[in-house]
Amino acid sequence: MIKPSGNSITFDNHVTNLLDNGIVLIVDDVPNNLKVLSDTLAHAGFEVAIATSGERAIQQLEHTPVSLILLDVMMPEMDGFETCQHIKANPRTQNIPIIFITALSESVNKVTGFELGAVDYITKPFQQSEVLARVRSHLKLNQLSRTLEAKNTELQHLTEQLEQRVTQRTQELFTSVETLKQTQQLLRLVFDTIPQWVAWKNLNLVYMGCNQVFAKAIGLNSPDEIVGKTDYDLPTTPQQADWYRSWDTRVIESGQAELHIVEESRLADGRQIWLDTNKMPLRDINGNLFGILLVTEDITERQQAEEELKQQKQNLEQTLVELQRAQMQLVQSEKMSALGNLVAGVAHEINNPVGFLGGNIQPALDYIKDIFGLLDLYQQKYPNPDADIQDEIEAIDLDYIREDLPKLVGSMREGVKRIRDISTSLRTFSRADSDRPVACNIHDGIDSTILILKHRLKASETRPEIQVIKEYGQLPLVECFAGQLNQVFVNILANAIDALEESNIVRGFEEIKANPNCITIITQISDDKQKVIINIKDNAHGMTEPIKQKIFDHLFTTKAVGKGTGLGLAIARQIVEETHGGKLSFNSVLGEGTEFFIEIPI
Ligand SMILES: Nc1ncnc2c1ncn2[C@@H]1O[C@H](COP(=O)(O)OP(=O)(O)OP(=O)(O)O)[C@@H](O)[C@H]1O
Ligand SMILES: [Mg+2]
Repeated sequence: MIKPSGNSITFDNHVTNLLDNGIVLIVDDVPNNLKVLSDTLAHAGFEVAIATSGERAIQQLEHTPVSLILLDVMMPEMDGFETCQHIKANPRTQNIPIIFITALSESVNKVTGFELGAVDYITKPFQQSEVLARVRSHLKLNQLSRTLEAKNTELQHLTEQLEQRVTQRTQELFTSVETLKQTQQLLRLVFDTIPQWVAWKNLNLVYMGCNQVFAKAIGLNSPDEIVGKTDYDLPTTPQQADWYRSWDTRVIESGQAELHIVEESRLADGRQIWLDTNKMPLRDINGNLFGILLVTEDITERQQAEEELKQQKQNLEQTLVELQRAQMQLVQSEKMSALGNLVAGVAHEINNPVGFLGGNIQPALDYIKDIFGLLDLYQQKYPNPDADIQDEIEAIDLDYIREDLPKLVGSMREGVKRIRDISTSLRTFSRADSDRPVACNIHDGIDSTILILKHRLKASETRPEIQVIKEYGQLPLVECFAGQLNQVFVNILANAIDALEESNIVRGFEEIKANPNCITIITQISDDKQKVIINIKDNAHGMTEPIKQKIFDHLFTTKAVGKGTGLGLAIARQIVEETHGGKLSFNSVLGEGTEFFIEIPI
């Protein structure tokens, strides 16, 4: 092996041994020359072979491992150059170094020798040291070039192997790059196929990537444009960006996902949408946090559906309320119309006999007058009747009858008049409403209502009669739906009576007598003369605050099941405010009483 050592080159033992063992073939036709040379070389330690002609030398090379050839140029038959040509033509021997031997006197062309492959020339007569030096040097040189060749071959082999490995590695690398590229493409395809918006940020909350949907939503041409941006670079308000980052920070600090963050947002195209975002920590294979993954879903449709559902529910509830209202109105108006019909029927039925009575009272009085005149005539003509007649006159107290009978018939007339008034009132109350308001006397309405409720005002075993105090002002005729207004009066008066009855439960008869139940009805025109105000007040127990809040609510009642439906005031308010454009308000003091104000525009 060649080992560099300073500037010189040294040979290792292996090479030296090869040199030592090398056989040097001497070819010369002059025996003396052969002897001198072989002696010199043998003496110097070389193994020597000899040949006396070119042909023999070639033969000998067949079976002798020769390291170097000393070849005489001038030989009979085959000269040195020709022999050289043969040796160099044989691949087995072509690498054996050949040194030509020439006599100084011989004028050979040395160049020819070198061209044929000789390595050197030695001139006769020989200088022993020169021969040895040249032989040694060429043996070494040859050996070195052999080694070099071997090294070269080895190096070439290694180079080939290396090249092969490089090619293989390059191929492998190429394949992995291809695979990586394909994986990346697949990943991108997957991300872009997902309908959700996907994006990822590093720990500094800088975007590192996103999918197509996300890019499009925020107005970017390609997902690559998002790399390096923060939320403040996107089309959001700074407040919104702050908000996003506060969620991101929470995820980073806790290492936990934040799910279903719902927000209303505006897209790059101006569309208003609802978003549901999940923010999840991203970790490497060692579990170290390196970023956040954002997955956002457009839930606008779902939200809209929910809104619609909510709206529908509200509509349904509204419809239900309206239905309930309609139902209660139906019930009430049914009640009222049944009552009205009954009242009207009764009034009508009474009318005939009352007319009949009223019509006959005067003739009856006339007849009585006639009969009394006849009696007077009898007494004049027969001043002394017999004892039986005398007794009968005394028995029946004729004088008293004569005096009382006209009074009696007069009071009958009064009674008939009252029945007629009642009948008129009943007909007023039961008056069927036309489809538009008509001018009415409010007082008639109130009076007829009181009449209808008379039975409830009357004294009972537990209490004296409920007093109704009327303080009617001067009212013009009011354009209204009289039947419906009567319904309002009935409800308010009935409530007052109910409240009075209730307040009586804890009071004795005398106590009530000392402080009687009283309903006061005051009517007046407002100061601005724009409306009539009907004020109905009672001196019952009044109402507590929580009750006051609810009295106009549908179905709110404090009364026992079956006694109250909780519709009276709701309907009353509707009639006053919606039908007549007026106002129904009240005032109530616990323990003192309640007053209602019905205001109807004139
Ligand atoms: N004058 C009043 N004094 C005290 N409480 C009253 C008076 N008027 C009404 N209220 C209270 O208001 C509630 C609601 O009255 P509303 O007339 O609407 O229903 P109701 O009388 O209970 O039932 P109904 O449908 O039969 O009239 C009553 O249950 C009662 O508690
Ligand atoms: Mg009521």
